[in-house]
Amino acid sequence: MAYSDKVIDHAENPRNVGTLDKDDPTVGTGLVGAPACGDVMRLQIKVSDDGVIEDAKFKTFGCGSAIASSSLATEWIKGKKVEEAESIKNSDIVNELNLPPVKIHCSVLAEDAIKSAIADYRAKQAAKRAAE
Ligand code: FES
Ligand code: FES
Repeated sequence: MAYSDKVIDHAENPRNVGTLDKDDPTVGTGLVGAPACGDVMRLQIKVSDDGVIEDAKFKTFGCGSAIASSSLATEWIKGKKVEEAESIKNSDIVNELNLPPVKIHCSVLAEDAIKSAIADYRAKQAAKRAAE
């Protein structure tokens, strides 16, 4: 299978690999698994007071396409408002990376991870407000 240069670049030099403090109330953590292959992706966001994603980190235990998808996802969401990040579709990732059909579920993992991180962030903020 021929992978695009962008996939190879992100898979070999992934951006924003790492971990943010999951107990920080401004951090949202998304952890998702791909039923198709058993791979796991963790994506975290740190959100500023005005709702901008100021940092994003990921760790992916999966194939090169999953690593490339999550690497690209963190690049895209950094500096975006939470609502903008939420509207990123896996098809955007597929188009940017030129993923072959068999690897589309790897990009779904990245979309799901973004949504899951945002949901976690919102739940934490709601809990914080309720406690105030
Ligand atoms: Fe699991 Fe590729 S086989 S991500
Ligand atoms: Fe399953 Fe890539 S995430 S093959």
